[in-house]
Amino acid sequence: MTPKRRVDNLALFGGERLFSEPRHVNKPNSPPRELFDRYLDTAWSAAWFSNDGPLLRRFEARLCEQFDVRHCIVTCNATAALDIVLQALRLPPGGEVILPSYTFVSTANLLRLAGLKPVFCDIAADSMNADPEQCARLISSDTVAIIPTHVWGVPCDIDALEALSDQSGVPLLFDAAHAYGAVHGTRRIGGFGLAEIFSLHATKALHAFEGGIIATDDDALADDLRLRRNFGFSGNDQVDLPGVNAKMSEAHAAMGLANLDVFARTIAASRLCHETYEQGLRGIPGLVLRMPDPASQPNYHYVVAELDAQQFGMDRDTLTRLLFAENIWARRYFYPGVHRMTPHLPLAPQAPVSLPQTERACNRVLVLPAGAAIDLDDVRAICTLLRFISENAAVIAGRS
Ligand SMILES: Cc1ncc(COP(=O)(O)O)c(C=O)c1O
Repeated sequence: MTPKRRVDNLALFGGERLFSEPRHVNKPNSPPRELFDRYLDTAWSAAWFSNDGPLLRRFEARLCEQFDVRHCIVTCNATAALDIVLQALRLPPGGEVILPSYTFVSTANLLRLAGLKPVFCDIAADSMNADPEQCARLISSDTVAIIPTHVWGVPCDIDALEALSDQSGVPLLFDAAHAYGAVHGTRRIGGFGLAEIFSLHATKALHAFEGGIIATDDDALADDLRLRRNFGFSGNDQVDLPGVNAKMSEAHAAMGLANLDVFARTIAASRLCHETYEQGLRGIPGLVLRMPDPASQPNYHYVVAELDAQQFGMDRDTLTRLLFAENIWARRYFYPGVHRMTPHLPLAPQAPVSLPQTERACNRVLVLPAGAAIDLDDVRAICTLLRFISENAAVIAGRS
């Protein structure tokens, strides 16, 4: 990790890379190995590895207690989780579903596969979450669901969205993939809308290698989802509905439980990482970190920068190229916006005009390597590099 002294030292111009191995946006968290082994041993001794096992039940019970909800149904991933929720709601084909374009592509993909029509709403500039006023304007007689995302784990404007759902009678689901640990008011994320869906992918704040959680207070929905998770089986030879295999294995539940046990430590480490960036990037013109609101008990898992190209002296994409060359795999989330992605572009060709805040975020956001597992010396080195680039932006921009 040799700091750059001259522009020629930048890897893009032939210098040595700052890191010999890539630094990813979120290196997976590893709980103490013996903790994971202890959970796994119980599955091993019972030779019970899948199908509603004891670890899965323990994991679900702990999540229910945390979210203060009646049901948590864990699945093999969040995409499968949302898939079975959409099926369980029996939404009419061709129905419109309002969602932000500024989110991960999985929801829009699922809607298309289910014969539903994604209708993209814009985000609020301050939160980068679905703007409730925009959602309200998009509601029509064909609207069958609203699915906003708690982007970066920042809770949506839940009160306004729940009011909209109540007034319109349109079911509200939350994509809570990023939001494990956060609260809205006094209640944990997980307890809002008809259901909330979390991702337990290896790169998430809480993970189970892969996995998903559906949290809901709706008994009938939960019963239906448990069937759909397991091919529709309600008994040995009885299949009640056309379910899929969305089950979580005991090994995955073991990882989920182990990560749950150390989650307070995970948040503390992620917070320290965030604070290290805050300190290291302070005063760099045009590079502004989005600050999590302590009132929502954020998990500090993402470090999200917004770049003002004029003030920084270089556009975001040039900066991204420079960082990649140094093995800093910072990412342009959720670039280019779901509305501009090939499968969804023909559906809303006018969307770029009607989604100005989404376009702005897609063109300015850069997510930096962060989380509990990153080495803080790496964070300091990334900050030093960003400051060097900022101080030499004019020269670099002229060469790249
Ligand atoms: C906002 C959001 N929604 C949904 C998903 C899908 O989650 P999974 O990978 O568990 O299917 C992700 C995954 O990265 C995500 O970031």
